[in-house]
Amino acid sequence: MLVSGTGSILQALLNACQSEEFGARIVAVGADRDGTGGVEKAEAAGIPTFVRRVKDFPDRMGWDQALTRDCAGYAPDLVVAAGFLKLVGQDFLSQFGGRMINTHPALLPAFPGLHSVRDALAYGVKVTGCSVILVDAGIDSGPILAQQAVPVLDDDDEEALHERIKVVERTLVVDTIGRMVRNGWTASDRTVRIGS
Ligand code: GRF
Repeated sequence: MLVSGTGSILQALLNACQSEEFGARIVAVGADRDGTGGVEKAEAAGIPTFVRRVKDFPDRMGWDQALTRDCAGYAPDLVVAAGFLKLVGQDFLSQFGGRMINTHPALLPAFPGLHSVRDALAYGVKVTGCSVILVDAGIDSGPILAQQAVPVLDDDDEEALHERIKVVERTLVVDTIGRMVRNGWTASDRTVRIGS
């Protein structure tokens, strides 16, 4: 699992993994910066962690190759990015493409990018939400696995709306990953079907 921030989605997954019926376990947690709540939560749960910072490498490709090696060392079936604020590169995708998941706090393809909650508010939409997607080489452009809507309230600011989205997002991520690991999935162009 890859994180850059608080790690509340990671915590929701850690909680779900305590039940064997969930069907998955987290083998490692990686971050692109020091001092993340996500790595702290993983350490508290006894999960191996690693940090790979872009600035420690001469170029982005070197960072991507190191991150790929780190993740491959744990032989994960799935890589889950939850609040991971970096785009992975070609090396990472050639190893994990088709089995890397990202979660995004907007109803894609609306409002991709880092400021999706702010952008949705600025646009004046009445409904936004969250999307769980397979990662491809673009920015939040991969095939959609699951989405859920969240109403925008008249007096929402960015923080209040993002917090309400995250409540829904945590459940959606846990539910989607659980269904994928238990039932498998098939992808054809942009259409992904979980289970048979
Ligand atoms: C989520 O809304 C995710 O979609 C976004 O950052 C948030 C991560 O929250 N990119 P947390 O670190 O899991 O609490």
